[in-house]
Formats: sequence, structure tokens, C-alpha cells
Amino acid sequence: MTVAPDYRPAFPERRLNVGLVGAGAIARTAHLPAYAAWDVPVVAVASRSVESARAIANDFGIETVHASVDDLLADPRVDIVDIATGPDERVELIAAAVRAGKHVLAQKPLLVDEAEIPQMREVLADAEARGVRVAVNQNARWAPAWRLSSLLVRRGDIGDVVGVTHLHDKPLPPLVGTPFDDIAHMLLSDYLVHWIDITRCWLDGSRVSTVAAQDGRVPGQPDAARNPWQAGLQLTTDTGATAAIRIVGNARSAEAGCPFWIHGTEGTIRGSILRDTDAVELDRDGERTSFPLEGAWFVDGFAGAMGELMSAVVEGRAPENSAAHVLGSVRVGLAAVRSAEACGVPVHPVDLRLDPADAREGDAE
Ligand SMILES: NC(=O)c1ccc[n+]([C@@H]2O[C@H](COP(=O)([O-])OP(=O)(O)OC[C@H]3O[C@@H](n4cnc5c(N)ncnc54)[C@H](O)[C@@H]3O)[C@@H](O)[C@H]2O)c1
Repeated sequence: MTVAPDYRPAFPERRLNVGLVGAGAIARTAHLPAYAAWDVPVVAVASRSVESARAIANDFGIETVHASVDDLLADPRVDIVDIATGPDERVELIAAAVRAGKHVLAQKPLLVDEAEIPQMREVLADAEARGVRVAVNQNARWAPAWRLSSLLVRRGDIGDVVGVTHLHDKPLPPLVGTPFDDIAHMLLSDYLVHWIDITRCWLDGSRVSTVAAQDGRVPGQPDAARNPWQAGLQLTTDTGATAAIRIVGNARSAEAGCPFWIHGTEGTIRGSILRDTDAVELDRDGERTSFPLEGAWFVDGFAGAMGELMSAVVEGRAPENSAAHVLGSVRVGLAAVRSAEACGVPVHPVDLRLDPADAREGDAE
């Protein structure tokens, strides 16, 4: 019988203290509920508006509301700064936390503009010099079905990965009239960040050679919906392994979910996430093993991302979700947008290299 690796969030015995920056929707609906469920101490909060920081502190029992981010960074009790703001000023906020000697967990997307990559690299070099860790809240890496699949891949249960396939077989979230509809190529540049990141994790050991992506309007899409409702991207790698991610549009489906397949030289992992479809099956040597799963991406994934950073700090190692590792996924996402702008022409992520340090990081991937 195949025994499942432990896919649940893991924390060190002694939790570190968290200071939250940003009192918006995701902090309220995911960060803080996850931390409450997993005994993560949040000692302070600061946000652009003190009123919203006060309200969230009140609702979640956070002791201290700081008048400014600078005050929170000066708070000696804060070990980890949990950045739950949007992508504007992401680099500056991380840089300030690092200068204050704090470890950082930054929300995704880490970057939205390739011009910010060199600046981010400087911040990461500064963090290394100061001995602080910078991780990214790629919480979907700890969505139970995706985390278990990552651990099965890592354990070699399907041999070498040959191909990764994702189908977004569920309706799109509400987009019309929301700020998301103002983001260029939103599905590729924002919504699919987690799918791109997990795909790249499953392809670790291969280097992405090309990214080809396209997006477009679909039949029945209302005029008021400005962003394309379908998007797809395909990756090739230097080992020959490939990947495909596909959103067909606003799928109408009685069994909505997000199925995925990881094909390997020795077997196949198939599963699904979201909409209560969470499942993983290992198909190998003529046997099919289904693993019972506990928890869900929302909100356990958020505990997983924080737990990994805390464990890494305590164990004196780089976290799996280090900003340096996530930069590789960011480059794939930026290449996808560039490809879509060129009507699907394959783009080499290597083209995004902006300085010699990029070449070194590419070599390490
Ligand atoms: N699964 C996920 O990981 C997931 C899901 C949803 C959103 N997100 C990401 O979370 C981030 C925040 O999204 P949201 O929906 O909560 O946004 P939001 O606008 O509701 O909240 C952002 C909060 O940060 C505050 N803020 C912004 N800039 C600040 C600054 N410089 N200093 C202090 N406070 C600042 C704002 O005042 C606001 O309270 C985005 O990057 C989004 O992509 C991630």
C-alpha cells in the first residue's frame, strides 16, 4: 500500500510573531482565519487607513495597531512581516522590512513588471547579507491536493515528470466592473499566477525553454467584460517535459473543479482542487491509489506558506517559497504575457534576463 507523505502545513514548535501590513480582503478572509486556526501569533497590524487596521485588530484580537508601517517595522516583537497589500510598492515594502531586520512573507504577485527584477534582486542580496528570509505567499503550493502531489513527485512516485496539464473547469470569478478587469491580460498576469507557479514546481529539475500563450474573447462574453475570458499557455523545457494550462471561458459545469494531471515515466498523478473537488489519485504499476485529504486551499494553504517560512527561519535554511525560487515562476508569467501580446509567438524566459545575476539564477533553476 502506498503511504501518503504528510502534506499538511508544518510549523516549528515555537511560533514566531507576525506583524500584518494591509488590512484588506485577503487578510480578513484568508490570512487571519488561517493563523487563528493554526495558532500563529499576530501581534501587530498597520494599514494605509488606521480605521481599517483597527477594525481588523478588533475582529481578530490583534493587540497593537500601529499608525504607520514604519512603526510596525520598529516594533521589536515582530519577527515576520506579513505583507498583504496589492502589488504596488511591493518591492519598496519588502526592502523596508528587510532593512528593519525582519523576515518577510509577501503576497503574490511578487512582481508585475520585469523592470523591477533587478531591484528585487538587490533587496534579496541585502536580505541575505542581513540573515533574514524573504518568502512569497504562494499559498496554493499548500492546497492539500497540490501539496500532496508535489510530495509524491518529489518522492519519485511517478518517476521523472513528462507532462503537466491543468484544465480550469469552473466558472470565472466575478470580473465585470471589478479592478481585476482593469489589469492587462488579467488571466495570464494575475489569475493564473498560482497555476503557473505550481506547474513550475512540478517541473523543477527542468528549465523552461519556451512559453507560448494566447488569450481572447469567447462566444457569449458580455461587452462590459473587458478582459479576455479564455487563456491558455504551453511550456516546453530542456528535458522535453511539457506543460499546458487552459481556461476555456466561464465554464458551466455541474461538477465544477480544476482537474490536473502529472504524467511521469513510471506513473500518473491525477486530481482536482477547488469547489470541494479536492482529490489525488496515484496510478502506477496497474494500481490506482486514492488518498483521503483533509483541509482546503482556503484557508490551509495560507497556514502552509507561513509555516514553511517559520520552519525555514528556525532551521536556518531557505524556505521552499523563497522569493528567489518564486522569481522563476514570475519570469514564466511575464513571458506568457509577452507571448500573448505577440499573438502566441513562443517566448524564451531567458529573454527576460536583465543583468548577469539573472543568468546565475536561471542556471540554478
Ligand atoms: N490566493 C491568494 O493568494 C490571493 C487571493 C486574493 C488576493 N491575493 C493578493 O493579495 C493582495 C491583496 O489583495 P486584497 O484583495 O486583499 O486587496 P485589498 O485592496 O482589499 O487590500 C489591500 C490592503 O492593503 C492596504 N495597503 C495597500 N498598500 C499599502 C501600503 N503601502 N502600506 C500599508 N497598507 C497598504 C490597503 O489599504 C488595503 O487595506 C493582492 O496582491 C492580491 O493579488 C492573493
